Amino acid sequence: MGLEIRPLTKHIGAELRGIDLRQPLDEASQKAIYKAWLDHLVIVFPDQKLEQEDLLRVSSYFGEIGALRRPPKFFPPGFNRLLPNIMLISNIRENGEPIGALPDGEMMFHHDMIHAPIPHNGTFLYSVEIPTHGGNTLFASGYAAYDTLDPALRAKLEGKTALHLYNYGSTKKGDGHGTEAFGEAKHPLFRTHEETNRKAIYVNRLMTTGIEGMSEEESQPLLDAVFDHAEKSEFVYEHVWSVGDLLLWDNRCSSHARTDFPADQRRLMLRTTIEGTVKPY
Ligand code: SIN
Repeated sequence: MGLEIRPLTKHIGAELRGIDLRQPLDEASQKAIYKAWLDHLVIVFPDQKLEQEDLLRVSSYFGEIGALRRPPKFFPPGFNRLLPNIMLISNIRENGEPIGALPDGEMMFHHDMIHAPIPHNGTFLYSVEIPTHGGNTLFASGYAAYDTLDPALRAKLEGKTALHLYNYGSTKKGDGHGTEAFGEAKHPLFRTHEETNRKAIYVNRLMTTGIEGMSEEESQPLLDAVFDHAEKSEFVYEHVWSVGDLLLWDNRCSSHARTDFPADQRRLMLRTTIEGTVKPY
């Protein structure tokens, strides 16, 4: 394997070239790619031509594939089947209903499944159709933000537990859009990654609702200061999608967001997740 690893920013993201993911990977290659994921938080495999079986096989190199709670109701155009545990992220509509989850426009920064007791370790996203512009995915390094957080703020929040909830849409908390409750959980506000032993900011603007033992008046300004710091452009890699890109990100130490895109253009992604292995600490 002629694997090339090219960092994309100082803190987060690397492009991996010289590898065709349609071919099974030997153990040495799997290890090298796994290490690149831990080192760079987000890895990008450009220009892949994957079948759904390939996506599931590649996902399985990183752990147990996350089970889908709500299998899709429709197949995307051009697909006559969808394999188990492949989720659609799409704004394409059938009979007026989106065929996929997280269909429209902008999304605020979040960690996937932070509202679960054991959140997913990672998420894969594979692009099938993209709009002419927008719909970029931004990834923020929780490590770099933690390392540079104002020491007084960090000391005040060290050892605290944050509360998370997901029962709303993609940009506004509690706006009544998509009110079905998906779950709530509490986790350390700063998370130690169990494989790298590094600490990362582990709260986000979309899903974090408070800090245990603090009133909203006390906690919200502190959380807002953490969000503003964590989302600074110096900690962010912005991915502009091409068809055939496969991305994998580490939900334990990074958060992500999405830019707006035209509502009249189609966006279709296939997603798998990697189950969490430990309760965050
Ligand atoms: C997600 O947040 O999992 C989806 C991101 C995207 O659609 O770019």
